[in-house]
Amino acid sequence: MKKNYATLVMAGLFLMNLPAQAQEANYDESNVGTYTLPDALTSLNGQQVIKKKTWEKIRRPEILKLFQDNEYGILPNAKIKTNYRIIEESDNALEGKAIRRQVEITFSGNNQTRKMLVLLYMPKGVKKCPVFVAPNFQGNATTTIDPAVIESQFSTYERAHQTSRWSYDRIINSGYAVATFHYYDIYFDANGKLAETIYPLFGITSDDDLQDNTGKAITAWAWGCSRVLDYLLTLKNIDKKRTIVMGHSRLGKTSLWCGAQDQRFAMVISNNSGCSGAALSRRNYGETVPRINKSFPWWFCNKYQSYNQNVPSLPMDQHELLALIAPRPVYVASAQEDRWADPRGEFLSLQEASKVYALYGYDTLQGYSFPAPNEHLWKGNCGYHMRTGVHDVTDFDWQSYIEFADRHLK
Ligand code: GCU
Repeated sequence: MKKNYATLVMAGLFLMNLPAQAQEANYDESNVGTYTLPDALTSLNGQQVIKKKTWEKIRRPEILKLFQDNEYGILPNAKIKTNYRIIEESDNALEGKAIRRQVEITFSGNNQTRKMLVLLYMPKGVKKCPVFVAPNFQGNATTTIDPAVIESQFSTYERAHQTSRWSYDRIINSGYAVATFHYYDIYFDANGKLAETIYPLFGITSDDDLQDNTGKAITAWAWGCSRVLDYLLTLKNIDKKRTIVMGHSRLGKTSLWCGAQDQRFAMVISNNSGCSGAALSRRNYGETVPRINKSFPWWFCNKYQSYNQNVPSLPMDQHELLALIAPRPVYVASAQEDRWADPRGEFLSLQEASKVYALYGYDTLQGYSFPAPNEHLWKGNCGYHMRTGVHDVTDFDWQSYIEFADRHLK
């Protein structure tokens, strides 16, 4: 009896200590529930969109606004001055194959300044190179063993701590440039840190200054990616027509939101972005909208919280975020063991979004079934794979992105 009681107590303590996601998430396909997705090709007044002109003039702006008003939010208008300063440069990086440049971008507005540090590698001898813009989680110096890389101001990690996620050799050998920055330079990934982010530049210094539709971290990080692109577009050897925004996980949500808004990006990649990224919100599988809003209230606009009790009342779903990228190439990648991010929900979302690509004459993913692990499903301008393994960015992922970009960006 005593032993049973002790076992029960132990079990209870174990459950209490489990992460909330493990206790609450559904991983049973038969419990996903039924749902009806909003139709990306029916405008708010009921009109069917059959021409790309109607998509671009009416439906696309409607959907963009739905995401601005209800999920990610927008930034207030503000006059922000930007200054670029090259603080380090070498034409003998990565075993002599690359030019390395480290650029400090200073933003000023509202009597405040903020700085971001960009690490840029460019392949030597390429006159016009395509470029990946990809924010990093732990600081620029954690992405490489290159000792000349300057540590990012808010990084708390050891140098070279996350090199496995950055296939710099492959990227450079394939003729691509890559630009990265520590996402903390733009917005701390924590609650209650608003004053230390870029927000004071916009006249926002506390949560009280936020409207229902003021964007927070995801919108800010997306803004950061666009500012890196501003800089890259000043360089002669960067190909303006082949710029790619790529992000992993919360930064995959960011790359999608960035690419949806900033149409200068010619291709968009979501790596394991999951809930409120590529995955459909209406599927009850893995992370859900109420769950993400509870854990990460600083990522989305305040209005998003109002859907916690009634996800189907969201006036849009994530396939429409992917559709905003049309007709530009979009790549959604999942990982088999990353059930929290709902790989199938990511695939179904892209499949549904591909209908919009059909307006531009592209093949769609309609009629294709969920591909086997590590199989590429590339149709029209939509790319998908579910890699074996866990939530991560691997060389397989980078190899896929480069091959897809080689084929689709001209
Ligand atoms: C958490 C979060 C996800 C997010 C991920 C990440 O797991 O719940 O939504 O994508 O962190 O950014 O690594």
